[in-house]
Amino acid sequence: MRTIYFGTFVHSLTLSDLQVLPSAAVGVDEDGTIEFLDQNADSPEVVAEKHSWPVGSYSIVSTDPASASFFFPGFFDTHIHASQYPNVGLFGKTTLLDWLNTYTFPLESSFADLKVADSVYSRVIARTLGNGTTTAAYYATVHTAGTNRLADLALSVGQRAFIGRCCMDANSPDYYCDKSLEEAQKATLDVIEHIKKIDPNYDIVCPILTPRFAASCTKELLSWLGKLSTDTNLPVQTHISENLLEVDLVKSMHPFGNSYADVYDKCGLLGERTILAHAVHLTEDERALIARRGSGVSHCPASNSALTSGETRVKWLLDAGVKVGLGTDVSGGFTPSILHTARQALLVSRHLSMKGDESHKLSIEEVLYLATVGGANVCGLDNKLGNFLPGKKWDAQLITLDCKDSPVDIFPWEREKPEDLIAKWLFNGDDRNVTKVWVNGKLVAGTAFTL
Ligand code: GUN
Ligand code: ZN
Repeated sequence: MRTIYFGTFVHSLTLSDLQVLPSAAVGVDEDGTIEFLDQNADSPEVVAEKHSWPVGSYSIVSTDPASASFFFPGFFDTHIHASQYPNVGLFGKTTLLDWLNTYTFPLESSFADLKVADSVYSRVIARTLGNGTTTAAYYATVHTAGTNRLADLALSVGQRAFIGRCCMDANSPDYYCDKSLEEAQKATLDVIEHIKKIDPNYDIVCPILTPRFAASCTKELLSWLGKLSTDTNLPVQTHISENLLEVDLVKSMHPFGNSYADVYDKCGLLGERTILAHAVHLTEDERALIARRGSGVSHCPASNSALTSGETRVKWLLDAGVKVGLGTDVSGGFTPSILHTARQALLVSRHLSMKGDESHKLSIEEVLYLATVGGANVCGLDNKLGNFLPGKKWDAQLITLDCKDSPVDIFPWEREKPEDLIAKWLFNGDDRNVTKVWVNGKLVAGTAFTL
């Protein structure tokens, strides 16, 4: 059945333009596509008549006028390791390369057991969806069966997901690696075949080619994945320039590249559907190359702080025309929430600005753009998702700030100040405020969701 959503809507049009639309109406058809967005609407019924929607042909979902609540687009998590979820917060004093060996590879290797995959993957999907993440770009592990299970679970719950079978045929521990190029190739193709079978048009789940990072792949594997992405138009995700020791390692492993980005480029991996996580230590030339290729960056501020990797210059990337979205990078990052990640992005940008260059500062409008439209850009889904413009899909969350047990305290004089309410949501809100979550027009999660 068609639905009219009625009440306050908040969404981004551009980096600096966060629209707040009180008394608005969004009409969504049976396929989950937005037919209209009407501002200053009198009532759902008046809007329905205007659009020739007969009485009885639609249902109505309204925000409670007495409560501080609004519809917001679903979040994009453009970089998250689903398998690492049990390790959130566990990083001690390590930095990237010793963290991988100490915490990460041992955990990921346990996903040979499908029971582990089932329990962790179902948990991480529920947790991210409950936090309003309607689209996630997931890394799984090297295991084919476990990776397929992640795709099955995301599809059955209804979270949009890019599913990456992690490829690593070099410089990796014997107990957790691809034993050969052929093994990585076969497993990658097997996962693609499985996803093609369960979701033939990739409407909800889509395979994503996933060289772990250049420091754990041979040139042959990188080039094979690059060619596969060109031949199939499948997206790619990987890490780039997260940590200075990693940058040196890539330089010594792949001397054919003039830079980290050039290694990927020479292997055909920098396309318009490529997600590059971190991008902390890029040079000007790398930034220009990434912009020319139309690849996107997943900014992972919680992870970059936790692993002391550095501070990504987000404004510097955006200024050059590089697409940027947000990533939790669980479990380099400690939070599965994109709202929390947006908060962290804002704070990290202020830290950067304290070094003498105010232009690094991100605003509330800008980080909420990165969490939604920016993420859609990076995932190549901006024609379909990211805000409430007609023609896009209804992937949305209903945020209620004064719900029971809310972590946000709202005072009477604040109710008519949407900018203040949004700021308080960004800095104090969490999944308790996510009352309902829809993907493709279907209700899939939220505190008011019951099966
Ligand atoms: N680089 C290679 N693998 C990883 C990983 O699992 N997490 C992060 N943050 N960086 C990586
Ligand atoms: Zn990562």
